[in-house]
Amino acid sequence: MYRDPDPRFDSLGGHPVALRPLRVGMIGIGTVGAGTFRVLARNQAEIAARAGRGIEVVAVCARNLARALAVVGQGVAITNDPMQVATHPEVDVLVEVAGGTGPARDWVLAAIAHGKHVVTANKALLAVHGTEIFAAARQHGVAVAYEGAVAVSIPIIKALREGLTANRIGWVAGIVNGTTNFILSQMRDQGLDFAQALAKAQALGYAEADPAFDIEGTDAAHKLALLAANAFGTPVNFAEVQVQGITALHRLDVACAEQLGYRIKLLAMAWRHEGGVELRVQPALLPATHLLAQVNGSMNGILVHGDASGLTLYYGAGAGAEPTASAVIADLVDLARLDGTHPAQRVPHLAFHAHALQALPVLPHADICTRHYLRVPVHHARCMAAVGRLLAEQSVPVERMEWMHGTTGGARQLLVLTYAAPQGCVDRALHTLQSLPEVAGPCVQWRVELLAG
Ligand code: HSE
Repeated sequence: MYRDPDPRFDSLGGHPVALRPLRVGMIGIGTVGAGTFRVLARNQAEIAARAGRGIEVVAVCARNLARALAVVGQGVAITNDPMQVATHPEVDVLVEVAGGTGPARDWVLAAIAHGKHVVTANKALLAVHGTEIFAAARQHGVAVAYEGAVAVSIPIIKALREGLTANRIGWVAGIVNGTTNFILSQMRDQGLDFAQALAKAQALGYAEADPAFDIEGTDAAHKLALLAANAFGTPVNFAEVQVQGITALHRLDVACAEQLGYRIKLLAMAWRHEGGVELRVQPALLPATHLLAQVNGSMNGILVHGDASGLTLYYGAGAGAEPTASAVIADLVDLARLDGTHPAQRVPHLAFHAHALQALPVLPHADICTRHYLRVPVHHARCMAAVGRLLAEQSVPVERMEWMHGTTGGARQLLVLTYAAPQGCVDRALHTLQSLPEVAGPCVQWRVELLAG
């Protein structure tokens, strides 16, 4: 069948004709912005060979102009007015790597209204304002790319949007916050306390500007909302993610989990069930032999279960300047290749075309059914039977009970692993347990996830 030759290629052998470089305006020249600039400069020729054209930063917005000049040098317009970059007539693509939600939303919407594509690594922005931003982009025929927003170096958005398109995806689960994974690893392996490990993560440039986003689980929840939307074809639903960070996690439980053959990780999980979806971020026990239990330091790991593909696993750096730059630049290369194509030919923002997105109900906390780990401080060894009886009465089936090795100044710690039980039953059982005279202090409960195929 005859087809018109693509004007971007010559007629002799598909060699690209000389296209002018893709011109980039960048807001934010901090850790990620500087990393992006550095990698673009270092790998310029190879990136251009892949993109079919050069990629040039022409304008940068920074709070500290002197610092920006030191990074980008002469020849790039530098300003401290973000709107100037967002609406700059010579900019084809806005790269937003400043972070935050309110002002970033305004810059991104302004760029879109001026017909510019957007690349962002700002998960908070898309988790909170994604629906509005994607709609504006569709209206103006531009693309919003965000590979760097989720598990930075890992091309998980690409995998979900392109590599796995044949599948009905049942669940996505993973470690998607580098800072908390680094903290948990340092506490376990180096014996650092929480504050020391966090300070180290900040010094290495892993943490958010406000590290509460990391340790409270919010950053992982932002990423989970984007993963779930791409996996299930739902609109981004950050507001309904059930979130628990690592601040309430006790070192004692990290050690008890080890004794039982498990490791505690901050997991982000999205499951599709008959009646709706589960969206949750929480510290959970994983069998120590599980592949995700081997994901240490600031690394991330994500498992995706598709009905045709089965389980696939993705692993890579979860934070840091150049790992994020790698994803931001991959998005720029995609844009360099697709610039000029009809919007209907592009990969949809959330993997499914907008008209096909369907909101699914989110299962309430009480209905979520998983295995559990309980730590019950008791006055004496005879209490084990009483605790077992009470759990059975409350429909929480026990898989295993044992004493924590060693002592903790008086109370004995009874460790319980349960079979799957709805959270509502477990909450009721804990409430009743807590009132038993044999119980010597607050009972602790975390979920246990097996994450098997
Ligand atoms: N603070 C984030 C993390 C950076 O630690 O995962 C990458 O998104």
